Amino acid sequence: MIRVLTYGTYDLLHYGHINLLRRAKELGDYLIVGLSTDAFNEIKGKTAFHDYETRKRMLEAVRYVDLVIPEDTWEQKLDDVKTYQVDVVVMGSDWKDSPRFEYLRDYCKVVYLDRTPGISSSDIKDKLHLVKEE
Ligand code: CTP
Repeated sequence: MIRVLTYGTYDLLHYGHINLLRRAKELGDYLIVGLSTDAFNEIKGKTAFHDYETRKRMLEAVRYVDLVIPEDTWEQKLDDVKTYQVDVVVMGSDWKDSPRFEYLRDYCKVVYLDRTPGISSSDIKDKLHLVKEE
């Protein structure tokens, strides 16, 4: 059983997220998502439209996702890798070579997948604001 772990906020779930989750799942058999809590989003300077429980329920409804766990801190990743016996940590290419993930290479594989071009949660929010103003 190959266990894969990825992290993110997953607000306004969109096809870029689904593409990432599908490809992450294809790297193994069991996909865990560390979902940023509302408090952690504040630390990251992000404000999600949907709260943690709502984002969690949305992710749990995605067929590629087996387990959603809270992401509360930058530092928890190694503990998560050990606790959940993770073989591969996967992130989108926006995190490529980031020290936040690179140190995990001593404990598991670290893979960066290309982002889907042309979409992000922030982009959707900006565009919806424009529609509202028209
Ligand atoms: N992701 C992706 N392709 C996109 C958007 C996101 O592959 N077009 C990936 C990210 O690289 C990350 C995961 O989806 O691994 C969750 O990203 P998140 O930051 O929650 O989503 P974004 O849409 O990038 O949100 P934001 O605009 O708030 O940064």
